[in-house]
Amino acid sequence: MNKPVLPDTHDLSFDDFDEAVNPRPEETDFDRIVEAAISRRGLLGGVLAFGSFTALGGALLPSGAEASSDRFAFKPIPTNTEDAITVPEGYKAEVLVEWGDPLWSDAAEFDHDSRGTAETQGRAFGDNTDGMDVFSHNGHTLLVVNNEYTNRSIIWGNRGEGDEITADDIHKGMLAHGITVVEIENKDGAWQIVKDSPYNRRITPESDMVLTGPAAGHDLMKTEADQTGTKSKGTWNNCGNGVTPWGTYLTCEENFNGYFSSSEEVQDQKPVTITADLARYGINPKDWGYNWAKIDERFDVAKHPNEPNRAGYVVEIDPYDPTSTPKKRTALGRFKHENAESVVNPDGRVVIYMGDDERGEFLYKYVSNGVYAPGADTDDLLDNGTLYVAKFADDGTGEWLALTPETTGMASPAEIAIHTRQAGSAVGATTMDRPEWVATHPKKAELYVALTNNKNRGVKPNAGGDETPVGGPNPRAENHYGQIVRWRPKDGDHTSKDFDWDIFVLAGNPTVHDDAYGGSDNLDADNMFNSPDGLAFDSNGLLWIQTDGSYSNEGDFAGHGNNQMLAGDPATGEIRRFMVGPNECEITGLTWSPDRRTMFVGIQHPGEKGNSQWPGGEGTTPRSAIIAVTREDGGLTG
Ligand code: FEO
Ligand code: CA
Ligand code: CA
Ligand code: CA
Repeated sequence: MNKPVLPDTHDLSFDDFDEAVNPRPEETDFDRIVEAAISRRGLLGGVLAFGSFTALGGALLPSGAEASSDRFAFKPIPTNTEDAITVPEGYKAEVLVEWGDPLWSDAAEFDHDSRGTAETQGRAFGDNTDGMDVFSHNGHTLLVVNNEYTNRSIIWGNRGEGDEITADDIHKGMLAHGITVVEIENKDGAWQIVKDSPYNRRITPESDMVLTGPAAGHDLMKTEADQTGTKSKGTWNNCGNGVTPWGTYLTCEENFNGYFSSSEEVQDQKPVTITADLARYGINPKDWGYNWAKIDERFDVAKHPNEPNRAGYVVEIDPYDPTSTPKKRTALGRFKHENAESVVNPDGRVVIYMGDDERGEFLYKYVSNGVYAPGADTDDLLDNGTLYVAKFADDGTGEWLALTPETTGMASPAEIAIHTRQAGSAVGATTMDRPEWVATHPKKAELYVALTNNKNRGVKPNAGGDETPVGGPNPRAENHYGQIVRWRPKDGDHTSKDFDWDIFVLAGNPTVHDDAYGGSDNLDADNMFNSPDGLAFDSNGLLWIQTDGSYSNEGDFAGHGNNQMLAGDPATGEIRRFMVGPNECEITGLTWSPDRRTMFVGIQHPGEKGNSQWPGGEGTTPRSAIIAVTREDGGLTG
């Protein structure tokens, strides 16, 4: 039997794996790319907020008063490649909780030799910390954290060469995914988790979920185990997050596709079980190495073709009620959700901004039909509303295109909720350089999105065949560095279809390139970085930027060092580096204690390629962890 030759997942990014299995047609026409780049050079100046042409045409210039204030409370630090956390003078960073720490006193401590079992993992803090938030409730401080995924080389790194992966190993990996809710307390100046708190909870790929909104009950959502199409099982690959105005937690299902596979036997051709609609979402005959179909056949699309339609949503969780069932809010669309940034519009409607993190995918917003009133019932607000997708013009303007049966030609709101990418393609949305986190300015109607990088810009279409021309908010072909784009809704109205946009920063390397790849003018040899990903505003209006990029520290990335966290002033464009992470980590997830004297920061996958022993030190397993950062003078951290 000839099996299709499939790549191994080691050393491939998620997007690269999907593209190796489902190759995109090459559309490279270098003449066209170069021409477009040249003809847009003048325009690029017009949309760079802090670039050479700012004086002539910066679209969102600050007022003079705003521009003159220095709101940074720290001295910037140089980058480095140390296997440690580095923070500025006057700050300290301590580990709060690590992958595998037990949440209950009768559960086993993390074992560095075995790296745990399914049983211990199910009662412990999950792996690869990502989006998170802190909630205060009846005198309790609750930390709610996404545990995005696992690195096989780390979780199974205890096994001898050639040892077979057991069902328990696979199950352990599965239970390391999901969400951890854990109470925390500050004892004598040090934060720690509260074991046995009644709020402590693990939500995993095996937890019960309810499907709500337009897709609930649709035929595409029905499976053998759930013939109503309203009850799914589990959540996984929970990336960024959000908080609702009414105090619930939103967790965002991102690369949900990489866990499905197909047992269909094929001779040289594509399995028919991988339909075009599944392929648009990157469902492949082979999974990314998690092997879940081996222990749970719902991950085999040959047997359960609708199961993938039940993942890829934003899930609402009530952290105050440990018995509550999480709700998959299908009205917010199905795609590789990064985060969900909510605002209450002046008229009371709830607006949620969301990115779809894949090369050439789109930026979305959801607008509720109803209005939010504190204390009133909010259950309908995330079920009844309209999804919009962004279309950017090169001149610094843009519009939101509604996704409705009329505009998309699709049969129903349910189909739009399930096949949201196809709906975005149907209306001609702008293909973006991988939209990661969206953050809203705390004091005005201004949003920021991290476009992390896109080596296919100007080279290949997206998974739906939409072209990825160079221009607008994606101004560089083969973009290895990324940029942060911001926009202002017209008249401060988040429900308006019109907005103005500009580029807050083009990441790059000014020590290697003297063209657009050197970055915008607010980047220099001392604050340069690549691949912005996590974004969050503090209460003072500083924008915190976390990176998930190349840490090779050579070639195009020479001098960038390890992944890091910086802060930017939206008014002046100034960017300062605040933190550098340990080797081979990503920095992701940021929130503050209720008194804002502690900043919690997530350190994901230190040593993903085998070169870190953080945080335990020599001889220990590298572990994803959350750190608590405080000022030595006890002052505010943001
Ligand atoms: Fe999980 Fe797009 O980052
Ligand atoms: Ca991310
Ligand atoms: Ca990323
Ligand atoms: Ca990551």
